[in-house]
Amino acid sequence: MTSTDTETAAGQPARAAALDLLDAALSRRAGLEEGLTHPALGRLAPRDRAFARALAMATLRRLGPIDAALQARLKKPPPDRIVQVLRLGAAQLLVLKTPAHAAVSATVDLAARQKGGPPFKGLVNAVLRGLTREPPELDDPDLLAPQWLAARWRSAFGPEAARAMAGMVAEEPATDITLKSPADDLAAPLEAQDLPGGSLRVGLKGEVQAWPGFAEGRWWVQDASAAVPARLLAVKEGETALDLCAAPGGKTLQLAAAGARVTAVDKSAGRLKRVSENLARTGLSAEVVTADATEWTDRRRFDAVLLDAPCSATGTYRRHPDVLWVASPADIPKLAALQSRLLDAAARRVRPDGRLVYCVCSLEPEEGEAQVEAFLKRAHEFTLDPIQPGEGGAPEASLLPNGTLRILPHHLAGGTDGFFIARMIRSG
Ligand SMILES: C[S@@+](CC[C@H](N)C(=O)[O-])C[C@H]1O[C@@H](n2cnc3c(N)ncnc32)[C@H](O)[C@@H]1O
Repeated sequence: MTSTDTETAAGQPARAAALDLLDAALSRRAGLEEGLTHPALGRLAPRDRAFARALAMATLRRLGPIDAALQARLKKPPPDRIVQVLRLGAAQLLVLKTPAHAAVSATVDLAARQKGGPPFKGLVNAVLRGLTREPPELDDPDLLAPQWLAARWRSAFGPEAARAMAGMVAEEPATDITLKSPADDLAAPLEAQDLPGGSLRVGLKGEVQAWPGFAEGRWWVQDASAAVPARLLAVKEGETALDLCAAPGGKTLQLAAAGARVTAVDKSAGRLKRVSENLARTGLSAEVVTADATEWTDRRRFDAVLLDAPCSATGTYRRHPDVLWVASPADIPKLAALQSRLLDAAARRVRPDGRLVYCVCSLEPEEGEAQVEAFLKRAHEFTLDPIQPGEGGAPEASLLPNGTLRILPHHLAGGTDGFFIARMIRSG
């Protein structure tokens, strides 16, 4: 079924659900995730649910250009809810290519159903008809990311990289998986492509739970970049490994699958439930601990410690385009301060000659390069253990001169999550 078929068949409940999803996504961190798992969405017919999701995601992926086009046609901004309705209408017209008469009338109707909405019916109609007559450019990389983030990326990575990165938000990302153990019989039924390091990029669409090998626990969903940090620890059978900030557990599973005796710590009991479920499905085992890592009183030292710290998550915008619009400049120093405390806590748990991998799915240097630089200045017992070209499946372009990794979303053909990764060794 094409998106146009889905659209034409979808009714007002689907559009109303898309409006709630968009509202949730843009009002708070993780709002999109919460909205997508909300029971209200689950109660819709499958076709309506698929359309609501597709419409909200299409809007978020082109929010910058859509807003620029709307602003050019609005003398003064209408109430927030009507702005959201207009954004959805524009995405139907311009991205999903819904026939204009259907998109305009459904959007005017949606506006009329909002509290205080009826007076804005004429405005919604006029703005959307204007967009139909003169469709704006929707793929301009200079508009796809918020200006403040684009400016940071230009200054950190250069103008060409910043434009390439912004351009990737418009593309629907593929699903990558990590195999529990190497297998030749899964690529064909999953219509998958081999990626460096052993991840597979799956060609199938739809519910992952229905894909071959899922129920048997032979793989888990994990972006190609997210699979690199645990590989760099290169744990051996029987070594002890600590995964700090572990949930939902992709890296815990990798360490356990490699034969390590893993302790997985996270402060969120709710998110740790997913670690336990993932362990049960894959038949792997780990000690699962609910604790704030900065206050964890356990005194054990480990052969290998992985810290995948909480961060602005700006590197995940291909899967979560909402992060671009809910992240704020004020978050970055706050998160950097937390990362610094977590890094000190992680360091205390590394045995002499043990390894420490620090990573964040952030594109902001304060959470990556600067974080590790400051850590090495205060923790003299640690030195960088330079990552070698191609090690762990990391794209070659991501290797920095000092042997840390700055993976940018366009470093892998078809895209990948942005990550910063450093490996360190404790001398004493
Ligand atoms: C980037 S996610 C980790 C993803 C995980 N490593 C994986 O690969 O599936 C960050 C995690 O840090 C946890 N977290 C945040 N602050 C924490 C703290 N002070 N102590 C322990 N965990 C914390 C969050 O609950 C969240 O699950």
